[in-house]
Amino acid sequence: MKKLSMEELVAFCNQYGFIFQGSEIYGGLANTWDYGPLGTRLKNNIKDAWRYYFIQNRDNSFEIDADILMNPTVWEASGHISSFSDPLLDCKECKTRHRADNLINDFDSTANADAMTQDEMLTFIQDKKIPCPKCGKSNYTDIRQFNLMFATQRGVTQSSANTIYLRPENAQGEYVNYLNVLRTMRTKLPFSIGQIGKAFRNEITPGNFTFRTIEFEQMEYQTFCKKGNDEELYDFFKVYGIKFFNFLGLPEEHLRYHDHEKLAHYAKAACDIDYLFPFGWGEINGTHNRTDFDLTRHQEFSGKSMEYFDAVTGEKYIPYIIESTYGLDRIFLAVMFESFVEEELEKGDTRQVLKLNPMLAPIKVNVLPLMKNKHGEKAMEVYQMLRKHFMVSYDEAGNIGKRYRRGDAIGTPFAVTIDENTINQDVVTLRDRDTMKQINLPISELVEYIKKEINDCISSKSEK
Ligand code: GAP
Repeated sequence: MKKLSMEELVAFCNQYGFIFQGSEIYGGLANTWDYGPLGTRLKNNIKDAWRYYFIQNRDNSFEIDADILMNPTVWEASGHISSFSDPLLDCKECKTRHRADNLINDFDSTANADAMTQDEMLTFIQDKKIPCPKCGKSNYTDIRQFNLMFATQRGVTQSSANTIYLRPENAQGEYVNYLNVLRTMRTKLPFSIGQIGKAFRNEITPGNFTFRTIEFEQMEYQTFCKKGNDEELYDFFKVYGIKFFNFLGLPEEHLRYHDHEKLAHYAKAACDIDYLFPFGWGEINGTHNRTDFDLTRHQEFSGKSMEYFDAVTGEKYIPYIIESTYGLDRIFLAVMFESFVEEELEKGDTRQVLKLNPMLAPIKVNVLPLMKNKHGEKAMEVYQMLRKHFMVSYDEAGNIGKRYRRGDAIGTPFAVTIDENTINQDVVTLRDRDTMKQINLPISELVEYIKKEINDCISSKSEK
């Protein structure tokens, strides 16, 4: 069974309408990508799976949709204005800009640049004479910190007083709404606020397709709790993350924990879940024990009390936050790599199949008249009936084998063929994508059968 390389996946996504280059007709814009019709559906289905797992199936769990643009004081309080930066340096020979930590880690995978200070990184690069990946020489400027936030102006005059930022993470929208959710949902600790939305970072390093982009989507989840419950919840969300990825179809052997040695100033503990991409292990989730840092800072900068009143004990305190954050575009990429296989069939034939969990498949059923002229009208009736319940496609062009193959390649779990039996007896042939086995079913049972197959797949994989 063959798996895809990164280049092959980019071509595959383009060929079938999953992902296109951003602004393609103008030559593109580096590190931007547009999701096509099938990609948008798959992405929405991953969002729905996250909602099911995190919002629907957990107690005291609420989703919000905060604005991308926020009062700039939010970013002072969060520390992003002062310290959300990458250490950059330029090659003096070819003028290419690099991240110092990436230069080091790519040169020596045991070096661990994350644990080095800025001065230590520069000394390491100079001592080892690390060559520029573009021109091969080793002649660099000093390291400078480069803020990753995209700034923009509101209003008509350009002045620093009008500078606002495109959010670099969703989390702050959840923190500034903590009191609103607490009050309106009449909830108590521990409770969680989740949000799916865009984030923007002025990343300068190349992206590995959608792995590192300047505009991306996060599914962030913040659990507010009492100090003392934080460690247990942190451990819980590390495990829950792996379960969620298994639910999506990512197996244990392609996932690993990566505990952080060097912690952000606010964090008590931090751990990523990495997926094994063709280019190596890459972070798709992060779980962080953020202590009471965020709410304390927002209390300080807004002047509004962030204290929680515990009606049982009579205590007042600022809650701790356990954050579990998921990168949607990276998960999409992992799901595509994991699902794609090229299988050998009989007589040297091969087929490409996207073995997506049916709940994630962009299209659930492909309706096919065996012969367009004879069976087209009846097939259209079945298609009209099915699309009230599922995302369905209708394909009458080309021979039936080719039409099956196209459905397999885009991950459609069921194909329904309309033939003489359907005209005479209202019976269709239903083909399973993975086994390629076919069964006959009366039209009247079709909807319930497919619903059950999809639901069984969700419940058998959703371990609570
Ligand atoms: N609120 C915490 C936070 O934003 P992060 O580790 O910086 O934490 C969370 O980002 C997740 O967002 C990452 O695990 C990753 O999956 C995704 N992510 C971060 N930067 C990204 C980028 N430039 N392109 C695509 N996804 C990105």
